[in-house]
Amino acid sequence: MKSIVTLRLLLLGALAIALVPAHSQDKPTREPDVIYVPTPNEVVDKMFELADIRPGEIVYDLGCGDGRIPVMAAKKFGVRTWGFDINPVRVRESLENVKKNRVENLVTIKQQDIFELDLAKADVITLYLLPRLNVKLIPQLDKLKPGCRIVSHDFNMEGVRPKREISFRPSDGSREHRVYLWVTPLEKERPGTP
Ligand SMILES: C[S@@+](CC[C@H](N)C(=O)[O-])C[C@H]1O[C@@H](n2cnc3c(N)ncnc32)[C@H](O)[C@@H]1O
Repeated sequence: MKSIVTLRLLLLGALAIALVPAHSQDKPTREPDVIYVPTPNEVVDKMFELADIRPGEIVYDLGCGDGRIPVMAAKKFGVRTWGFDINPVRVRESLENVKKNRVENLVTIKQQDIFELDLAKADVITLYLLPRLNVKLIPQLDKLKPGCRIVSHDFNMEGVRPKREISFRPSDGSREHRVYLWVTPLEKERPGTP
């Protein structure tokens, strides 16, 4: 009798999962901290130039959108790359992008909140977030090994002096983009501040 009840419960559970509309599985565990806007490919190349990616290094893109940065770095430099996004729709697009470009052996995509990540393995970190989110990442970036490069599209990190800062206009004549580079250990403008 007990096993019939258990079986019924299992079946009901399975039915409930099957009836959940596909799109509801696309709901992020919480709202993303910034909306999705892709970095133009030419700007991605500039970010790579500033980051000076070397063979054998590991690249993390925090908030990877459609996965273009991990995919492009893997294709261009043959390095291992990781993309993290909180939005399952973006994760799915990234995985499709990885598959389309046949870089499954080099690229890992994870649905994860970037503020809960351990960044210890990264040599290069790419960002296209918001100024306040860059600042929120400082405690995690402070734990990176020395010599890691962090590049950010358009947005500064208040309180941390960049090593380089460039302005760049893509060949299609669209707006000017900024790229910032920091190298660890981060150089605080007011030493001792978080
Ligand atoms: C402006 S887009 C940048 C996409 C990609 N890095 C690029 O440059 O093309 C920011 C991405 O961050 C993701 N995101 C926002 N908050 C996040 C969080 N807390 N954890 C992980 N991803 C997040 C968004 O879903 C979005 O895809």
